[in-house]
Amino acid sequence: MRIKKALGRHVLLLLEMHSSVEEQVFYPCVRIADPSLIDRCEQGHDHATRLIETLRLMDDDDPLAPQLFRQLAGAVIVHIESEEQELFPKVEQANMDLTAIGNEMQTLESR
Ligand SMILES: [Fe+2]
Repeated sequence: MRIKKALGRHVLLLLEMHSSVEEQVFYPCVRIADPSLIDRCEQGHDHATRLIETLRLMDDDDPLAPQLFRQLAGAVIVHIESEEQELFPKVEQANMDLTAIGNEMQTLESR
């Protein structure tokens, strides 16, 4: 059970790091492709961030934690589907330098 809780906390940290990189680099770079879609993506991040913060402040033994974690997982899946099905195709059509954007994201991730 201790491993499961440690993994859960690690997942929260990875989600925060991924969101931060997207918000600092990817979204600003690709906003021109569809500003309103980027706004919705940022709202998705805000929702996930609020859930993550709530989970981080919870005691590991809080009986509500598993339900909230499942809610976070569901929100992340919806967000990923939106990015993959709507955002990424628009970014590809916008003919941007995705290699440069990817390199900038990797640089930030490695800090
Ligand atoms: Fe995202």
